[in-house]
Amino acid sequence: MDAPLAVRARGITKCFGDVVALDCIDLDVAQGQIHGLVGPNGAGKTTLLGLLLGLAVADEGRLEILGAAVGRALAAPDGVAGFVDGPGLYPSLTARQNLSALAALRSDARTGEIDDVLEQVGLTDVADDRVRGFSLGMRQRLGLAAALLTKPRLLVLDEPANGLDPAGAKHVNGVLTRLAADGTTVLLSSHRMDDVEALCSEVTILATGRVVFSGPLSKLSTENTELDYRVRTADPEAARRLILEMPGLGIVNDAVARQDAGGLVVRGLVPALDELVAGLVHAGIALRELAPVVSPLEAAFLALTEQQESNR
Ligand SMILES: Nc1ncnc2c1ncn2[C@@H]1O[C@H](COP(=O)(O)OP(=O)(O)O)[C@@H](O)[C@H]1O
Ligand SMILES: [Mg+2]
Repeated sequence: MDAPLAVRARGITKCFGDVVALDCIDLDVAQGQIHGLVGPNGAGKTTLLGLLLGLAVADEGRLEILGAAVGRALAAPDGVAGFVDGPGLYPSLTARQNLSALAALRSDARTGEIDDVLEQVGLTDVADDRVRGFSLGMRQRLGLAAALLTKPRLLVLDEPANGLDPAGAKHVNGVLTRLAADGTTVLLSSHRMDDVEALCSEVTILATGRVVFSGPLSKLSTENTELDYRVRTADPEAARRLILEMPGLGIVNDAVARQDAGGLVVRGLVPALDELVAGLVHAGIALRELAPVVSPLEAAFLALTEQQESNR
Protein backbone atom coordinates (compact mmCIF):
# COMPACT_ATOMS: atom_id res chain seq x y z
CA MET A 1 0.00 0.00 0.00
CA ASP A 2 1.18 3.53 -0.70
CA ALA A 3 2.32 5.65 2.25
CA PRO A 4 -0.54 7.69 3.71
CA LEU A 5 -0.69 11.23 2.40
CA ALA A 6 -0.28 14.34 4.53
CA VAL A 7 -1.49 16.50 1.63
CA ARG A 8 -3.67 15.47 -1.26
CA ALA A 9 -4.66 18.27 -3.61
CA ARG A 10 -6.67 17.79 -6.78
CA GLY A 11 -7.50 20.48 -9.32
CA ILE A 12 -6.77 23.34 -6.92
CA THR A 13 -7.39 26.69 -8.58
CA LYS A 14 -7.04 30.11 -7.00
CA CYS A 15 -7.49 33.45 -8.74
CA PHE A 16 -6.91 37.01 -7.59
CA GLY A 17 -9.04 39.06 -9.96
CA ASP A 18 -7.69 38.29 -13.43
CA VAL A 19 -4.55 36.64 -12.08
CA VAL A 20 -4.68 32.85 -12.00
CA ALA A 21 -2.26 32.23 -9.12
CA LEU A 22 -2.90 28.45 -9.08
CA ASP A 23 -4.17 26.69 -12.17
CA CYS A 24 -5.58 23.21 -11.47
CA ILE A 25 -2.84 22.01 -9.13
CA ASP A 26 -2.45 18.35 -8.13
CA LEU A 27 -0.12 17.61 -5.26
CA ASP A 28 0.64 14.53 -3.16
CA VAL A 29 2.87 14.83 -0.12
CA ALA A 30 3.56 11.57 1.71
CA GLN A 31 3.58 11.58 5.51
CA GLY A 32 6.98 11.96 7.16
CA GLN A 33 8.52 13.43 4.04
CA ILE A 34 10.33 16.72 3.53
CA HIS A 35 8.82 18.00 0.30
CA GLY A 36 10.29 21.01 -1.48
CA LEU A 37 8.25 23.54 -3.43
CA VAL A 38 10.32 25.54 -5.90
CA GLY A 39 9.61 27.92 -8.73
CA PRO A 40 10.33 31.43 -9.98
CA ASN A 41 8.85 34.49 -8.27
CA GLY A 42 5.10 34.66 -8.79
CA ALA A 43 4.83 30.91 -9.49
CA GLY A 44 2.16 30.48 -6.79
CA LYS A 45 4.20 28.93 -3.96
CA THR A 46 3.02 31.28 -1.22
CA THR A 47 -0.58 31.05 -2.43
CA LEU A 48 -0.48 27.24 -2.29
CA LEU A 49 1.16 27.13 1.15
CA GLY A 50 -1.38 29.71 2.38
CA LEU A 51 -4.24 27.40 1.35
CA LEU A 52 -2.67 24.57 3.37
CA LEU A 53 -2.43 26.85 6.41
CA GLY A 54 -6.08 27.88 6.06
CA LEU A 55 -5.20 31.52 5.31
CA ALA A 56 -7.31 31.42 2.16
CA VAL A 57 -9.74 29.05 0.46
CA ALA A 58 -9.35 27.63 -3.04
CA ASP A 59 -11.82 28.70 -5.73
CA GLU A 60 -11.97 25.18 -7.11
CA GLY A 61 -10.62 21.74 -6.39
CA ARG A 62 -10.36 19.34 -3.48
CA LEU A 63 -7.86 19.55 -0.67
CA GLU A 64 -7.29 16.89 1.97
CA ILE A 65 -4.87 17.54 4.80
CA LEU A 66 -3.85 14.75 7.19
CA GLY A 67 -6.72 12.68 5.88
CA ALA A 68 -9.45 15.30 6.43
CA ALA A 69 -11.16 17.31 3.70
CA VAL A 70 -10.55 21.06 4.04
CA GLY A 71 -13.75 23.09 4.21
CA ARG A 72 -14.30 26.78 3.60
CA ALA A 73 -13.35 28.01 7.08
CA LEU A 74 -10.34 30.32 7.34
CA ALA A 75 -8.41 28.46 10.05
CA ALA A 76 -5.33 26.28 10.22
CA PRO A 77 -6.47 22.68 9.86
CA ASP A 78 -5.85 20.48 12.93
CA GLY A 79 -2.25 19.37 13.18
CA VAL A 80 -0.91 22.00 10.77
CA ALA A 81 1.42 24.89 11.66
CA GLY A 82 3.81 27.19 9.85
CA PHE A 83 3.92 30.55 8.16
CA VAL A 84 3.96 32.29 4.78
CA ASP A 85 5.66 35.59 3.92
CA GLY A 86 7.65 35.54 7.17
CA PRO A 87 6.29 34.74 10.61
CA GLY A 88 3.86 37.11 12.34
CA LEU A 89 5.57 38.34 15.51
CA TYR A 90 5.14 41.14 18.07
CA PRO A 91 8.26 43.34 17.74
CA SER A 92 7.92 44.93 21.18
CA LEU A 93 7.80 41.57 22.97
CA THR A 94 10.76 39.29 23.65
CA ALA A 95 11.18 35.94 21.90
CA ARG A 96 9.89 34.12 24.98
CA GLN A 97 6.93 36.52 25.39
CA ASN A 98 6.00 36.00 21.73
CA LEU A 99 5.81 32.26 22.32
CA SER A 100 3.83 32.72 25.55
CA ALA A 101 1.36 34.98 23.73
CA LEU A 102 0.95 32.36 21.04
CA ALA A 103 0.52 29.60 23.60
CA ALA A 104 -2.21 31.65 25.28
CA LEU A 105 -4.03 32.00 21.95
CA ARG A 106 -3.80 28.42 20.81
CA SER A 107 -5.25 25.59 22.81
CA ASP A 108 -2.86 23.14 21.17
CA ALA A 109 0.30 25.06 22.13
CA ARG A 110 2.37 23.61 24.93
CA THR A 111 3.39 26.39 27.33
CA GLY A 112 5.72 24.08 29.24
CA GLU A 113 7.84 23.56 26.17
CA ILE A 114 8.77 27.15 25.32
CA ASP A 115 12.35 26.71 26.56
CA ASP A 116 12.63 23.47 24.65
CA VAL A 117 11.56 24.91 21.28
CA LEU A 118 13.76 27.99 21.78
CA GLU A 119 16.67 25.66 22.34
CA GLN A 120 15.77 23.54 19.31
CA VAL A 121 16.02 26.56 17.00
CA GLY A 122 19.11 27.94 18.78
CA LEU A 123 17.57 31.09 20.31
CA THR A 124 18.12 30.31 24.00
CA ASP A 125 20.72 33.07 24.40
CA VAL A 126 18.39 35.77 23.05
CA ALA A 127 15.15 34.40 24.55
CA ASP A 128 14.64 37.56 26.62
CA ASP A 129 15.61 40.07 23.93
CA ARG A 130 12.97 42.07 22.12
CA VAL A 131 12.14 40.79 18.65
CA ARG A 132 12.44 44.36 17.31
CA GLY A 133 16.23 43.94 17.28
CA PHE A 134 16.18 40.51 15.63
CA SER A 135 17.67 39.87 12.21
CA LEU A 136 15.49 38.31 9.51
CA GLY A 137 17.18 34.98 10.16
CA MET A 138 16.41 35.14 13.90
CA ARG A 139 12.79 35.99 13.16
CA GLN A 140 12.56 32.98 10.85
CA ARG A 141 13.91 30.76 13.61
CA LEU A 142 11.44 32.20 16.10
CA GLY A 143 8.64 31.57 13.61
CA LEU A 144 9.78 27.97 13.40
CA ALA A 145 9.84 27.75 17.21
CA ALA A 146 6.28 29.10 17.31
CA ALA A 147 5.17 26.43 14.85
CA LEU A 148 6.95 23.69 16.80
CA LEU A 149 5.17 24.73 19.98
CA THR A 150 1.97 23.24 18.57
CA LYS A 151 3.74 19.95 17.78
CA PRO A 152 2.36 19.91 14.24
CA ARG A 153 2.01 16.78 12.15
CA LEU A 154 2.36 18.96 9.03
CA LEU A 155 4.78 21.87 9.08
CA VAL A 156 4.33 24.40 6.26
CA LEU A 157 7.20 26.86 5.78
CA ASP A 158 7.46 29.56 3.13
CA GLU A 159 11.12 30.22 2.37
CA PRO A 160 12.34 29.38 5.88
CA ALA A 161 15.97 29.76 4.80
CA ASN A 162 15.48 33.45 3.91
CA GLY A 163 17.90 35.64 5.81
CA LEU A 164 19.68 32.73 7.46
CA ASP A 165 23.47 32.69 7.37
CA PRO A 166 25.08 29.37 6.38
CA ALA A 167 25.40 28.23 10.02
CA GLY A 168 21.78 29.21 10.71
CA ALA A 169 20.58 27.41 7.60
CA LYS A 170 22.47 24.29 8.62
CA HIS A 171 20.95 24.47 12.09
CA VAL A 172 17.41 24.81 10.73
CA ASN A 173 17.99 22.01 8.24
CA GLY A 174 19.06 19.80 11.15
CA VAL A 175 15.86 20.65 13.05
CA LEU A 176 13.71 19.81 10.00
CA THR A 177 15.56 16.55 9.33
CA ARG A 178 15.02 15.41 12.94
CA LEU A 179 11.32 16.36 12.80
CA ALA A 180 10.84 14.33 9.63
CA ALA A 181 12.68 11.38 11.15
CA ASP A 182 10.14 11.52 13.99
CA GLY A 183 7.26 11.41 11.51
CA THR A 184 6.43 15.09 10.96
CA THR A 185 5.71 16.02 7.37
CA VAL A 186 7.45 19.18 6.19
CA LEU A 187 6.44 21.15 3.12
CA LEU A 188 8.72 24.08 2.41
CA SER A 189 9.37 26.50 -0.39
CA SER A 190 12.89 27.64 -1.15
CA HIS A 191 15.02 29.42 -3.69
CA ARG A 192 18.10 27.60 -2.46
CA MET A 193 18.41 24.55 -4.65
CA ASP A 194 21.36 23.19 -2.65
CA ASP A 195 19.19 23.19 0.50
CA VAL A 196 16.32 21.55 -1.34
CA GLU A 197 18.63 18.85 -2.68
CA ALA A 198 20.15 18.23 0.73
CA LEU A 199 16.81 18.16 2.58
CA CYS A 200 13.99 17.02 0.36
CA SER A 201 13.16 13.56 -0.86
CA GLU A 202 10.62 14.94 -3.33
CA VAL A 203 10.09 18.26 -5.03
CA THR A 204 7.30 20.03 -6.82
CA ILE A 205 8.26 22.65 -9.36
CA LEU A 206 5.67 25.34 -10.00
CA ALA A 207 5.72 27.83 -12.85
CA THR A 208 2.99 30.41 -13.40
CA GLY A 209 0.51 28.50 -11.26
CA ARG A 210 1.06 25.06 -12.78
CA VAL A 211 2.93 21.98 -11.65
CA VAL A 212 5.69 21.28 -14.16
CA PHE A 213 7.28 18.47 -12.16
CA SER A 214 6.42 16.60 -8.98
CA GLY A 215 8.24 13.58 -7.67
CA PRO A 216 11.55 12.25 -6.38
CA LEU A 217 14.60 14.36 -7.22
CA SER A 218 16.13 11.34 -8.93
CA LYS A 219 13.35 11.45 -11.54
CA LEU A 220 14.25 14.95 -12.72
CA SER A 221 15.48 13.75 -16.05
CA THR A 222 18.32 15.52 -17.77
CA GLU A 223 18.31 13.23 -20.77
CA ASN A 224 16.56 15.75 -23.00
CA THR A 225 18.18 18.93 -21.74
CA GLU A 226 21.54 20.31 -22.81
CA LEU A 227 23.54 20.85 -19.64
CA ASP A 228 26.97 22.31 -18.93
CA TYR A 229 29.56 19.80 -17.75
CA ARG A 230 33.02 20.39 -16.35
CA VAL A 231 35.55 18.18 -18.15
CA ARG A 232 38.97 17.75 -16.59
CA THR A 233 41.58 15.63 -18.33
CA ALA A 234 45.30 14.88 -18.16
CA ASP A 235 45.80 16.77 -21.47
CA PRO A 236 43.44 19.77 -21.76
CA GLU A 237 44.85 20.91 -25.12
CA ALA A 238 44.26 17.52 -26.77
CA ALA A 239 40.83 17.23 -25.13
CA ARG A 240 39.89 20.64 -26.48
CA ARG A 241 40.82 19.66 -30.05
CA LEU A 242 38.79 16.47 -29.72
CA ILE A 243 35.72 18.28 -28.36
CA LEU A 244 35.83 20.86 -31.18
CA GLU A 245 35.63 18.02 -33.71
CA MET A 246 32.68 16.29 -32.03
CA PRO A 247 29.11 16.90 -33.20
CA GLY A 248 26.57 17.98 -30.57
CA LEU A 249 29.12 19.47 -28.18
CA GLY A 250 30.15 23.07 -27.64
CA ILE A 251 32.80 24.62 -25.44
CA VAL A 252 31.28 27.15 -23.05
CA ASN A 253 34.32 28.07 -21.03
CA ASP A 254 37.58 27.66 -22.90
CA ALA A 255 39.82 26.79 -20.00
CA VAL A 256 42.83 26.18 -22.25
CA ALA A 257 42.69 29.66 -23.74
CA ARG A 258 42.19 31.18 -20.29
CA GLN A 259 44.69 28.85 -18.65
CA ASP A 260 41.96 27.99 -16.17
CA ALA A 261 42.83 25.09 -13.88
CA GLY A 262 39.14 24.35 -13.39
CA GLY A 263 38.88 22.46 -16.68
CA LEU A 264 36.79 22.92 -19.81
CA VAL A 265 33.07 23.55 -19.60
CA VAL A 266 31.24 21.69 -22.34
CA ARG A 267 27.54 21.93 -23.27
CA GLY A 268 25.63 19.04 -24.73
CA LEU A 269 23.14 16.20 -24.34
CA VAL A 270 23.98 13.05 -22.42
CA PRO A 271 24.53 10.88 -25.57
CA ALA A 272 27.07 13.40 -26.92
CA LEU A 273 28.85 13.30 -23.56
CA ASP A 274 28.94 9.50 -23.77
CA GLU A 275 30.60 9.83 -27.19
CA LEU A 276 33.12 12.24 -25.71
CA VAL A 277 34.12 9.81 -22.97
CA ALA A 278 34.59 7.05 -25.55
CA GLY A 279 36.61 9.46 -27.73
CA LEU A 280 38.88 10.47 -24.86
CA VAL A 281 39.53 6.85 -23.92
CA HIS A 282 40.19 5.96 -27.55
CA ALA A 283 42.70 8.82 -27.87
CA GLY A 284 44.44 7.77 -24.66
CA ILE A 285 43.51 11.00 -22.83
CA ALA A 286 42.89 10.27 -19.16
CA LEU A 287 39.54 11.64 -17.93
CA ARG A 288 39.80 12.96 -14.38
CA GLU A 289 36.40 14.59 -13.91
CA LEU A 290 33.11 14.87 -15.76
CA ALA A 291 30.37 16.49 -13.72
CA PRO A 292 27.41 18.78 -14.34
CA VAL A 293 28.21 22.39 -13.43
CA VAL A 294 24.73 22.79 -11.96
CA SER A 295 22.55 20.02 -10.54
CA PRO A 296 19.53 18.74 -12.49
CA LEU A 297 17.22 20.63 -10.10
CA GLU A 298 19.11 23.87 -10.60
CA ALA A 299 19.14 23.33 -14.36
CA ALA A 300 15.37 22.73 -14.43
CA PHE A 301 14.82 25.79 -12.27
CA LEU A 302 17.07 28.00 -14.38
CA ALA A 303 15.46 26.82 -17.61
CA LEU A 304 12.03 27.74 -16.26
CA THR A 305 13.17 31.12 -15.05
CA GLU A 306 14.81 31.92 -18.38
CA GLN A 307 11.70 30.76 -20.24
CA GLN A 308 9.57 33.03 -18.09
CA GLU A 309 11.88 36.02 -18.65
CA SER A 310 11.74 35.51 -22.41
CA ASN A 311 7.92 35.37 -22.35
CA ARG A 312 7.72 38.81 -20.72
N1 LIG B 1 -3.39 38.77 -2.34
C1 LIG B 1 -3.14 38.84 -3.64
N2 LIG B 1 -3.78 39.72 -4.44
C2 LIG B 1 -3.53 39.78 -5.77
N3 LIG B 1 -2.65 39.00 -6.41
C3 LIG B 1 -1.97 38.11 -5.68
C4 LIG B 1 -2.17 37.98 -4.25
N4 LIG B 1 -1.35 37.01 -3.79
C5 LIG B 1 -0.68 36.54 -4.87
N5 LIG B 1 -1.04 37.20 -5.98
C6 LIG B 1 -0.53 36.94 -7.36
O1 LIG B 1 -0.57 35.52 -7.55
C7 LIG B 1 0.59 35.06 -8.22
C8 LIG B 1 1.31 34.05 -7.35
O2 LIG B 1 1.88 34.72 -6.25
P1 LIG B 1 2.65 33.97 -5.08
O3 LIG B 1 1.83 32.82 -4.60
O4 LIG B 1 3.00 34.99 -4.06
O5 LIG B 1 3.95 33.43 -5.83
P2 LIG B 1 5.37 32.97 -5.23
O6 LIG B 1 5.21 32.78 -3.75
O7 LIG B 1 5.69 31.71 -5.96
O8 LIG B 1 6.35 34.04 -5.57
C9 LIG B 1 1.40 36.31 -8.54
O9 LIG B 1 1.08 36.71 -9.85
C10 LIG B 1 0.93 37.31 -7.52
O10 LIG B 1 1.07 38.62 -8.02
MG1 LIG C 1 6.26 33.63 -2.19
